[in-house]
Amino acid sequence: MYARTHALMQRGIDFLGTEHAVLCGAMSWVSERNLVSAISNAGGFGVIACGAMTPDLLDTEITATKALTGKPFGVNLITMHPMLLDLIAVCAKHQVSHVVLAGGIPPKGSVEAIKAFGGKVLVFAPTLALATRLLRNGADALVIEGSEAGGHIGPVATSVLAQEFLPALAEEHVVFVAGGIGRGEMIAAYLEMGASGVQLGTRFACAAESIAHPDFKKAFFRANARDAVASVQVDPRLPVIPVRALKNKGTEEFTAKQVEVAKLLDAGKVDMGEAQLQIEQFWAGALRRAVIDGDVENGSIMAGQSVGMVTEEEPVAAIMAGLMTESEAKLAP
Ligand SMILES: Cc1cc2nc3c(=O)[nH]c(=O)nc-3n(C[C@H](O)[C@H](O)[C@H](O)COP(=O)(O)O)c2cc1C
Repeated sequence: MYARTHALMQRGIDFLGTEHAVLCGAMSWVSERNLVSAISNAGGFGVIACGAMTPDLLDTEITATKALTGKPFGVNLITMHPMLLDLIAVCAKHQVSHVVLAGGIPPKGSVEAIKAFGGKVLVFAPTLALATRLLRNGADALVIEGSEAGGHIGPVATSVLAQEFLPALAEEHVVFVAGGIGRGEMIAAYLEMGASGVQLGTRFACAAESIAHPDFKKAFFRANARDAVASVQVDPRLPVIPVRALKNKGTEEFTAKQVEVAKLLDAGKVDMGEAQLQIEQFWAGALRRAVIDGDVENGSIMAGQSVGMVTEEEPVAAIMAGLMTESEAKLAP
């Protein structure tokens, strides 16, 4: 049915074991059993966002997801989680087929531990040199994610990353492109550049199967691309990983919080470690407040620039079919 798109996706399809090489990137609080199983049941690849979950909670979530789908799905683990190796052990227990390591360079032993139980490892890399090193050292596939994406972001646009990474790596390696993909025509373009598949978050976050609060979804449906802004770093001494989210009181307060912490730093009342911790703690819970409690004023409504293309609540299968149909039409001879 999607012969041309599938032909270009073949390596990604073989790697993921799916019908389409379309991943729904892990989204903390959003990517739980319901959305993940819906994505996989629709022929894509769902990924559980482990976030700050304990090993027991992850165990429960994987079990529950397995009950809802017999199709392949993955687990996204944050590399700085203090119990990373215990979380990998939970994945091993469940024979999770793919583990995505996000949030930094995988610590020693983590890639090996996943491969030891037969899991495939997907990594992110901000530079070509690091990507090459990770792939040489055992990572099985790479996700390149541009600054158009929702959530924590790097500084470079997807279109530029694609031009740098795909010609250099895509012949030999499985590379998925993420960030700012809202329609199938864009999927077709990255596939033609050599990508094995794509990863989307924003387009799927408010699907009918997503448990996100109705007010969170409403905020998405109303928003335009220009509402999804990256947080700004107000003080060069305070390194803050930018987060792309819909503009609201929460994003303004985040700027004010940075000014406040920078003043404490100046006055010698906190050291750099404590200052950075205070900044990161500000985000902790903010996404949950928006996604689960529906506090779209003070919470963090993480969203990518493709949010303007999210206008109504649709089932995952309809979103997937739309994307694949657009890609196929674009690739028509
Ligand atoms: C609400 C939200 C939460 C996210 N949380 C995470 C996360 O916990 N871990 C992660 O690796 N990526 C996270 N992301 C990034 C997505 O996995 C995905 O790579 C990104 O959304 C793709 O770009 P797009 O939003 O332009 O489609 C999040 C994105 C959104 C929109």
